[in-house]
Amino acid sequence: NDDIINPFRNPESEFSIKARKGSSLVNLKRAQKEQTRNARDKTSVEGTKIGEALGLRNKPIQHDKNRNNMKNLKHASSNLSYKEDIKATRQSLPCFRSRTELLTMVRENQVSIIVGETGSGKTTQLPQYLYEDGFTTNGKLIGVTQPRRVAAMSVAKRVAQEMGVKIKEEVGYSIRFEDYSSPQTRIKFMTDGILLREVLLDNDLDKYSCIIIDEAHERTLNTDVMLGILRTLLQRRKDLRLIITSATLNAAKFSKFFGNAPQFTIPGRTFPVEINYSKYPVADYVEEAMKKAVNIHLTTSIESGDILIFMTGQEDVEATTESIEEKLLEVYRKKGEASTFHDVNNIEIFPIYSALAPELQSRIFHKLDKTKRKIVVATNIAETSLTIDGIRYVIDCGYSKLKVYNPRIGLDSLAITPISLANANQRSGRAGRTAPGVAYRLYTEEASETDMYSSTIPEIQRTDLSNTVLLLKSLGVENVMKFPFIDTPPIQTLLNSFYELWSVGAIDNFGELTKLGTDMSKLPLQPSLSKILLNSITFGCSTEILIIVAMLSIPQIFKRPKEREKESDKARSRFFIPQSDHLTLLNVYLQWKSNNFSTQWCSNHFIQGKSLEKAEDIRKQLLRVMEKQNFTLKSAGSNWDIIRECICTGFSHQAAKLSGLKRYVHLRTGMHTKLHPTSALFGMGDLPSYIIYNELLMTSTEYLVCVTAVDPFWLMESGLLLYDIKKQEETNDYSIGLLGTKGISNNNEVDVEEARKVVREKLD
Ligand code: CDP
Ligand code: MG
Repeated sequence: NDDIINPFRNPESEFSIKARKGSSLVNLKRAQKEQTRNARDKTSVEGTKIGEALGLRNKPIQHDKNRNNMKNLKHASSNLSYKEDIKATRQSLPCFRSRTELLTMVRENQVSIIVGETGSGKTTQLPQYLYEDGFTTNGKLIGVTQPRRVAAMSVAKRVAQEMGVKIKEEVGYSIRFEDYSSPQTRIKFMTDGILLREVLLDNDLDKYSCIIIDEAHERTLNTDVMLGILRTLLQRRKDLRLIITSATLNAAKFSKFFGNAPQFTIPGRTFPVEINYSKYPVADYVEEAMKKAVNIHLTTSIESGDILIFMTGQEDVEATTESIEEKLLEVYRKKGEASTFHDVNNIEIFPIYSALAPELQSRIFHKLDKTKRKIVVATNIAETSLTIDGIRYVIDCGYSKLKVYNPRIGLDSLAITPISLANANQRSGRAGRTAPGVAYRLYTEEASETDMYSSTIPEIQRTDLSNTVLLLKSLGVENVMKFPFIDTPPIQTLLNSFYELWSVGAIDNFGELTKLGTDMSKLPLQPSLSKILLNSITFGCSTEILIIVAMLSIPQIFKRPKEREKESDKARSRFFIPQSDHLTLLNVYLQWKSNNFSTQWCSNHFIQGKSLEKAEDIRKQLLRVMEKQNFTLKSAGSNWDIIRECICTGFSHQAAKLSGLKRYVHLRTGMHTKLHPTSALFGMGDLPSYIIYNELLMTSTEYLVCVTAVDPFWLMESGLLLYDIKKQEETNDYSIGLLGTKGISNNNEVDVEEARKVVREKLD
């Protein structure tokens, strides 16, 4: 579809080929990890004890290091000069010299655009300036949005520390499923998604005196939608101040969007960065990054500065970290200076990615001894949202993970794609914040010219918009097509979203929100999941659906380690509920619960304990949202058919019909699909005629993942607008088909009422 922008500017480039193949080092590390996990599992409890007795404990070094750092920090905060230190640090930031000008601009203009290099103090200082200048004395708040959860959290902590308060007092933060703000809070950091939800409850955002849309250059879907909403909102709230901050790019675009709002550029102190491209296409960026980092470490003096490596995601961040450790150990071992990595005492390596535990994330900010070099291996989180001081060398793999919408299947997926030139410059720029630096780009100069876009495609042009459309509708936006988007989304994506919302019953034939749609918009979930959760209240199975929804919100729960595949498959099959993967998930949860949420139980049964804990956390939070809307939970007891029927109400647009051995035809698109081998239904002799699925996995084959058997009658009832009954000529049997297609109702002259009666009787 021409309307959809391909994240690969050149689909035949070295970039896209590499992205498809993946890194061999990552694959190797994955295999190694599984092996050690196997070994560990095999030794079981006794093995661990023996290991402990022999002093073979797993990775104690890391923990100890961590504790020391925490101690240092505590020590620092008890120091008398600590306050002075903070003051001096704050005053040394580029922002500080422009403090008066900035405040005057905000006082005099309803909208201000502030541009400044990463690290100049926009995020941490601006809110404090406004606070000190009395923007909250009227009892209102300063709200600061961040595109990333991690950034919202870490920045709030930093500001609280600078102001000498605890989180949740004057400074708080709020991210999906975690709220750390209180009535005392005056500066509130939050994800842009949270602010969007708040507009739903309070159209005028009355509790805020000032909103800072931070990191606007990132152009996340939520930022873009928020800016569109604010444009109209500002006309109603003349007293509200809006500040948009951006790291240099696209500032003119924001200014134009807000009627030529004034721009202010914070004078920065940046130093020249020497850019080195790779001479030849790099075969494996993880391996190449490791070599570069090790080389820098061994050939330059420690004082020359720290190293920052940009990778795409958790997996290659970890693989890079580990292989640098291995390589350095090898080098120092040869020299006879080390026998474990613990002995290598002139370096510390810090991985950082959004899924990393917060306490481990904040470690990257700690100052090390002069005798030690810091290597940070990060995702694009360190591009602009987090500033790490002291970086002089940057290694850039040239890729990042991007959410991409596939209109054919109507789903988002995360894809490794080449970064844009703008990102590349941001990344390099990290090396020149405190002194001249060097950047190594692990791609050729030619590739960067021919295969990179000049700036990243805004998220709004490459993701599913169902939730956005639902939100805009519930905000009373009459014509979504005419909503003031900074960049308009592809019309096809908007139409797809309308179709999806219509088919789940969230909007009616006139494109207006239904009661169900309104309720759905209050839940922080995808439309189909919101729908089944709401329907479960009338179906009387909300306890179970809540569990299923939470279980669907987490990644893989079953482990399948290599070499123990048979064993783990067998373990998994013990949880199978023959008719449904959804019910199988429910079953896993319930058994975990009756085993007191035990971690040991999880590992005994090849289940990811961490994932289940996350699911339980999400379940509790959703429960709170439901209780706020006065919904009470009810259990279906032993009637699990009602649960399947309820699930069917949200997924009738994702239904398929049996046709051949383990093969299903997609009811809506006619696409040929297969049951995924992990499905509980896979081994069944007698496969159900109709199923709904949660996800379509596109590999060489199109697989249906997480399916549930449904009765055709339910499908027809919940997909009234989609399907109807067809009478089979030869057998006089009835089957379900897409409304309006050949053989369905129009041609066959079926008495629909009678047919429904027949189907109903059959079910009874
Ligand atoms: O937003 P901007 O990139 O302009 O800068 P900032 O995030 O406000 O950072 C200003 C300074 O605070 C930098 O020197 C950061 O290293 C420091 N900072 C920190 O030490 N810890 C944090 N969690 C956040 C910022
Ligand atoms: Mg910032």
